[in-house]
Amino acid sequence: MMQRTLFSRRSGLLAQQAAAAALDVPLAQRLDHRSASSVTIPPPACMLRPLEVPLRYLFGPGPSNVPPRVLAAGAKPIIGHLHPEMYEIMNDIKKGIRYAFQTENNMTLSMSGSGHAAMECAVFNAVEPGESVLIAINGIWGERVAEIAERMGANVHKLEKTPGNYFSNKEIEQAIEKHKPVLFFLTHGESSAGLCHPIDGIGDICRKHGCLFLVDTVASLGAAPIFMDQQNIDILYTGSQKALNAPPGTAPVSFNDRACHKMFNRKTKPVSYLFDMEHLSNYWGCDGKQDRMYHHTGPVSGFFALRESLAILAEKGLEESWRKHKEVAAYLYRGLEDLGLKLFISDKDLRLPSVTTIAIPDGYDWRKLLMYMMKNHRMEMTGGLGPSVGMVMRIGLMGYNCEKSNADMALHALADALKNCKKSKA
Ligand SMILES: Cc1ncc(COP(=O)(O)O)c(C=O)c1O
Repeated sequence: MMQRTLFSRRSGLLAQQAAAAALDVPLAQRLDHRSASSVTIPPPACMLRPLEVPLRYLFGPGPSNVPPRVLAAGAKPIIGHLHPEMYEIMNDIKKGIRYAFQTENNMTLSMSGSGHAAMECAVFNAVEPGESVLIAINGIWGERVAEIAERMGANVHKLEKTPGNYFSNKEIEQAIEKHKPVLFFLTHGESSAGLCHPIDGIGDICRKHGCLFLVDTVASLGAAPIFMDQQNIDILYTGSQKALNAPPGTAPVSFNDRACHKMFNRKTKPVSYLFDMEHLSNYWGCDGKQDRMYHHTGPVSGFFALRESLAILAEKGLEESWRKHKEVAAYLYRGLEDLGLKLFISDKDLRLPSVTTIAIPDGYDWRKLLMYMMKNHRMEMTGGLGPSVGMVMRIGLMGYNCEKSNADMALHALADALKNCKKSKA
């Protein structure tokens, strides 16, 4: 044992000396030396430089800054994706998601992928080619889900409004009666417009008409109240990188019994193997079987970080998290109005507390304002997305970033940009 330690210490030292020596030799010479080797493509020069990542204030619509505790969780040693300890961690994640979603659904897990993975998983599993779906579009996310459903061969019907507007329950019910969809999609937090859509009563309408209710909470979970079970939401998903404050790349999703009944009694297999819930439900221990089989290698570090972010939410409490987002958002609104800026969503009750949208100030080029803040304040805010491009600028203060001191910094940077960027339009 002693000998092994000495040996590994010595070889570690030798490796360090070799690395130091390599650094002393100019890069060109090192590459020249390699020209005698059998590879014809040399190592790219960028790969011989250390990774550099700047510190940024991520005050856009996501990703948001990640708290040190979550970063540290992601840096823990890797274990196997099928080790019993990993299953325990995955079980914890399932419980954390159930709390965050306010659901008792057994079929609750995290996708190995970003919010889009959960979006595709929901549509691919709940819908079969040729079936009708109804998609509410009042920003980019409805457009995106409509495209996903079209690609897998669904018969897509669209209920459309311009960004910033919402659908009444009556409009939704009339469209469901007309198109008889198997699934109705709605975005809770439309991050491209800054709108938080009312949810109450829509689940009941869907139930009455025998269609599944699918809701996107990527931008709203943890920032605005959502009660999956009480609101009769059949499928709910979110992302890791917004108010949850984990790194991008994992996406919680949950299916209730109605959704499971539909997706596990299909005539056709879902178009995606990776997103097939038959396999994922086993991988996540949701199918009641004793053994969990290999399906894919989950993002182990991403799941550690997700678990930690869900733990922070559980410690803080959902209600406190919702309250804080509302309070800081209200503080930000006042500051923005004091700067003479106009909030894009006029009805306060419809504003998304995590992502605030302002109308582009008259006469300014929004790209220049954003570039100025990035260059001079190391701060990210963004313009619109999809149909809201050219209409809005977006400020996100989510989770860890949701503090009045950050709102002050954002307001200061905006004021500075407005003062220093020349008006380019009349
Ligand atoms: C409301 C909403 N849905 C879905 C997504 C897509 O998530 P991702 O970029 O993680 O795939 C986003 C991302 O901004 C979002 O805001």
